[in-house]
Amino acid sequence: MIVLGIETSCDETAAAVVKNGRDVLSNVVFSQVELHGPYGGVVPEIASRCHVETLPSVIERAVVDAGIQWGDLDAVAATYGPGLASSLMIGLSAGKGLAMRLGCELVAVNHVEAHLYSVFIGENAPRPALVGPMLGLVVSGGHSTLIRAPEIGVYAVCGQTIDDAAGEAFDKAAQLLGLGYPGGPEIDRVSRGVPTGAVQFPQGRPKPGNPALMGMDASLCWSFSGLKTALMYHVKQHPPRDEMAVAAIAASYQDAIVKALMSRTDKALREGRAKALVAGGGVSLNSALRQALAELAQRRGIALLLAEPPFCGDNAAMIAGLAGVGRGIKGEQAFSIDVAPNLNIA
Ligand code: KG4
Ligand code: ZN
Repeated sequence: MIVLGIETSCDETAAAVVKNGRDVLSNVVFSQVELHGPYGGVVPEIASRCHVETLPSVIERAVVDAGIQWGDLDAVAATYGPGLASSLMIGLSAGKGLAMRLGCELVAVNHVEAHLYSVFIGENAPRPALVGPMLGLVVSGGHSTLIRAPEIGVYAVCGQTIDDAAGEAFDKAAQLLGLGYPGGPEIDRVSRGVPTGAVQFPQGRPKPGNPALMGMDASLCWSFSGLKTALMYHVKQHPPRDEMAVAAIAASYQDAIVKALMSRTDKALREGRAKALVAGGGVSLNSALRQALAELAQRRGIALLLAEPPFCGDNAAMIAGLAGVGRGIKGEQAFSIDVAPNLNIA
């Protein structure tokens, strides 16, 4: 089963070819970071225009790099949600047109499910069938979600953010601290080896009964917007004088996010029967988070599955991989499906 994946849910224009759901024959990502950097965040109009301009060459590159012919493709898979409507539309439309032209199957894929699946891609990745019940943590610029997954395809969301996503909290903080965009990698970089106690940031616990919880257990959910406000006030009252002062604030802020992510994850592990902790999404690249996840998994005596770095952030290999194991919407339904910007995983 050879699948071409297309991913355009946000600001990465990506295409990849994956065999049998795990062997990555090519993985092309065109990052639009430089276009959005001056605005400190993704500008939807710029993102969709860039997808239109670059996607054809990105797809072609993926097929050439894979060393296959167009006729070798068994299916074309494209993300249909969640994400920015105007961005999703470009990739999904391209996928529909290409699958029609090639006369092959079209698969519409859920982006968050693909982030979760990303740990099963690549030569050294474990086989999903051999991994027991999982607790998934998907942390990116658009999501912070805890998912119980007895197996791939069976999901129950048990926790999520009620406002900003963890990646958003990193990006906004970097902007306030005068660091670059995207902020996560910058905060990670300047925080390395820096003590975390300089500033006490709140850990953002949503109050039980908050309607934004939508019935979910408050103790398994996050609220990151107060953290960003606390940083804003701190910087106003104590403007950092040099790079060392910025790093001290950044390290404390990163620590607050990591501790918030870990406390809910730990609680969900204690309450469930997971045998593996799975983390995906751009924020799962964070070095402090990776270390904290490893410590937690060891403490709880369970396996930790992290995606290889090229498959953590937005990429199309995870889209093609997930479609390659039979997940996603197929057949006539896929050709008539519309984008779903607020799509849930369960
Ligand atoms: O998964 P992703 O590429 O796109 C979305 O689906 O949103 O995640 C992008 C997010 C950005 O907010 C970026 O700042 C964050 O992931 N990120 C990081 C790191 N690398 C990327 N956050 C913390 N530490 C990192 N090393
Ligand atoms: Zn993503």
